[in-house]
Parts: sequence; C-alpha cells; structure tokens
Amino acid sequence: LWLAVGIRRRQPGEPVVENGFIPYLGCALQFGANPLQFLRSRQKKYGHIFTCKIAGQYIHFLCDPFSYHSVIRQGRHLDWRKFHFATSVKVFGHDSFDPRHGHTTENLHQTFLKTLQGEALPSLIESMMGHLQDVMLKSDKLSPSKDHWDVDGIFAFCYKVMFESGYLTLFGKELGEDKIQAQQEAQNALVLNALENFKEFDKIFPALVAGLPIHVFKSAHSAREKLAKTMHAENLSKRENVSDLISMRMILNDSLSTFNDVSKSRTHVALLWASQANTLPATFWSLFYLIRSPDAMKAGRKEVLKILEDSGLTVDPSNPTLNLTRDQLDNMPVLDSIIKEAMRLSSASMNVRVAKEDFLLHLDNQEAYRIRKDDVIALYPPMLHFDPDIYEDPYEFKFDRFLDEKGQEKVNFSRNGRRLRYFNMPFGSGVTKCPGRFFAVYEIKQFLTLVLSYFDMELLDPATQVPPLDQSRAGLGILQPTYDVDFRYKLRSTC
Ligand code: HEM
Repeated sequence: LWLAVGIRRRQPGEPVVENGFIPYLGCALQFGANPLQFLRSRQKKYGHIFTCKIAGQYIHFLCDPFSYHSVIRQGRHLDWRKFHFATSVKVFGHDSFDPRHGHTTENLHQTFLKTLQGEALPSLIESMMGHLQDVMLKSDKLSPSKDHWDVDGIFAFCYKVMFESGYLTLFGKELGEDKIQAQQEAQNALVLNALENFKEFDKIFPALVAGLPIHVFKSAHSAREKLAKTMHAENLSKRENVSDLISMRMILNDSLSTFNDVSKSRTHVALLWASQANTLPATFWSLFYLIRSPDAMKAGRKEVLKILEDSGLTVDPSNPTLNLTRDQLDNMPVLDSIIKEAMRLSSASMNVRVAKEDFLLHLDNQEAYRIRKDDVIALYPPMLHFDPDIYEDPYEFKFDRFLDEKGQEKVNFSRNGRRLRYFNMPFGSGVTKCPGRFFAVYEIKQFLTLVLSYFDMELLDPATQVPPLDQSRAGLGILQPTYDVDFRYKLRSTC
C-alpha cells in the first residue's frame, strides 16, 4: 500500500521522513511558503538531518553547518552533474551537456574557470567599467543633472545600468563608437529588447525549474526564443569585443558538440541568465542598504574617494573614464563588506547533490545515516545566514559585519565557540560554486564606486522599510524584493 500511494517508509538507519499530506507534492506547499521557517521547525523536531518529500522527490536536508563538509567535499557517492545538467536542459531547452549523453565532450567547468577567473578578469573588469559609465553618463538612459533630482526605483535603476553593462561585457557590441546614429539606435533597441525578453523569461524561471513545460507560458517562451535568435552564431559573429567566455563557447560548440544551431544559441541564453539573474537583485540590495544606512554611505564614500585620490583619478561626468585595477578593487574592504552583508540577507540558493548509490552519510557528531541511490541531499544556506548564534541580530543590516578590528576582511566566524568553515554561501559550494563569483563581486563594486563618485542619492521616503523577499524564487539564488523602492539622485555638486 505504501508503494501504491508513493509514500516512503523510514528504514532502519535512515533520517526521519516527512511525506506530507498531498500526494506527489508532499511538503512542497509548506516548504514553498517559507522555506527557512519550514526547515527550522523540522530541525527543532527531528535534529540535524531529516527527509522531506517535495514534488515527488525525497530530499535529505542537512542542517548542521559542521557537517556540511561531508556533502561539499564531493565524495565518490555524490553526483552534482545529474541535477545541474538536467535543470539547464529543462529550463533553456538545449541538448544535454552531460558528457554521458554524448552531445558534447566540452568540459564546461573548465571553460568557465578559464574564461571567468584568473587572467580573464582584468579585461572583463575594464570592459564593464567602460560600459557602466557609458550607460550612467553618456547614453540618454539616465541623463542625470547637477541642478535637479531624478526619481527612479532602485531596482529599475540597477536593472537598466547593470543589465546593459553586463550584457555588452559578455556579448560585445554590434558596432564601434564611430558608427552612424541609425546604427547606434539599432544597437540601443537590441539591448532594450534583450532586457525586456530577459525579464519576461526570468519571471517563469521558478516554474520551469519545478518542471512545468515552457510552452504553457506563451510570451515567456517566445521571449526565450527571441533571445536565442539574437545569439545565433551569424549574429554573434557581427559583434565586437565579445568576451573570452562567449567566444570560447562558440568555438567549443562548433568543434566538440553535435548541437544544432538553435541548441547552440540556447546555451548562450543560459549564460546570459547565469550572469544576470543573481547579479541584478544582489546589486539592488547592495545599493538599497547603502542608501538606507548613513554609516554605510559615509564609510563607502570615504573608501571610494580615497582610492580615487591615491590613484590620481578625477571625477568628471563630462568625461567619464574612471578605471580601477583588480588590485584596487581588491583593496576595498568596506564595499566588500556591504556587498557580502546585502547578499547574506537576500541569498537563498539551495546546494544540491544526488546520491549515485546507496551509502552512509557521516555527520560531524559521529552519527551516520543511510542514504538511498537517487535521493537528493540539500544544504540551505539561509539557515546559516540567519543563525543568531553565528550572526548577532541576524535580520539587521550591519555594513561592517564582514570587517575585522583592523578594518580588513573578517574571515573568522564561529558557532558555540567553534570556528566555522562555512558561514557565508551566496555562491554555492564545492565543485558547483559559482565560477563567476569574482567577476560578480567586482562588477557590483564597480557599480557602487561609480554611483558613490558621481551621484548624491537619497531614499524618497527616509522611513522606508526593507521590502520583503520574494520567496517564489527560494532555492534559486539571490531573492528579489517583492516591490521596488523609490530613490532620487543627481550629479554631485563637487563633480
Ligand atoms: C552558478 C550564484 C553571478 C556564472 C551559480 C550558482 C550560484 C551562483 C548559487 C549555482 C551553484 C550550484 O548550483 O550549486 C551567483 C551569484 C551571483 C552570480 C549570487 C551574483 C551576485 C554570476 C556571474 C556569472 C556567473 C556574473 C558570469 C559572468 C555562473 C555559471 C554558473 C553559475 C556559468 C554555472 C556553473 C556550473 O554549472 O558549472 N552562480 N552567481 N554567475 N554562475 Fe553564478
């Protein structure tokens, strides 16, 4: 009978199982309403590890941060590719990247490391800084003035500036600076359309991950295909300054895969999504908390002005050519702490591995649990990020939380007197840790440096509360605010 109704019975040595009351969905609705609250209540009831049925899948939630390593160190029993590759296929519609499926022999992980880290970073940083200043000050997107305030939503502002700059940094521009007006307008329209299509598609992202087919969502489906069309090889090859990431992926798609043209272009849409979907809300939260906290604003601006002064750079909105090297960006602990703190409060990415076989999972407290083949093991970092035994007043934004007594990066966090190896995980963990994480933090730092250099900024309503997180994306990365918050900005009078 248990089998007939799809209910699992706990076997000796296994974690406690909660099947939920609804067939197939199991605990999905309770989990989805507020994952942190759900997991905390189960942790209280069952302890460090327990199993919940969520949308047909049995998931073992591991809640003890001292045991995280047993999952993150990626023993021979755990597979990350199965889940990640399958999700990407489901959402973006390309053929599988899993080498076991035979469509490609590309080692995607290596491609990402080569083109997003180390020596690849300086040119990404330089390109991004140029585009950010073009959008903020040279194009007609913002047209800020010294004489009057402009009003915008903080999320809308971040979207406009970061999407275009990040898009052009990765995918290049169709034409050079000196091209005629009509072509410039065509280029602007292309970016604007990409932004609108991205937004439309991103809205249904959680539904696609949950397994709903894309053709149910007509306009989002068409938005994804329009994005893919702009990324056909014939269109990308017309573009200048395409990043190493995209150029290399184009070459490897052609040389190592049997993907057809549509599948190839959909793999580029996947990268557009990965590069923007978390960065946009992370930039929003960083800017929102910066503007809302006078201490953060003061300390951030002081750090930025010092860096500019030490480098002999002048802030001139009529000739916006500020540039910072990677070393200079590495030397901005205050902005770093603001960004980390903003992400601590908004990130909710689930870290997932699949059991390749039946095995025993050993926890830090010497207990061991039987895990069945194909079961999922999940870590949910908000359980760390909002743990009052790790972070005092965990729901409060403290801009200097990640600074030590010397004003440098704080790396020592503990729980019950024991130092933690994992305490801040917005970028995932282990082998699936985000390969774009260094660039992501640099681009947000560049954005903050520029807005602090060029603009005065204020909340329209100084008493604005923190908007609630949109939990519909819980598990998938940085959460968006449920509504935008208005602010006003103008060029700094000292510029
Ligand atoms: C994967 C977070 C920005 C490229 C991921 C994952 C997370 C993440 C949590 C998945 C880890 C997992 O599934 O276990 C973030 C956050 C960002 C950010 C919080 C911004 C604040 C970026 C940027 C890029 C990027 C700017 C590229 C330019 C990627 C790629 C993957 C990925 C390619 C897939 C890696 C793989 O499957 O091997 N990111 N990311 N990310 N991210 Fe990021």
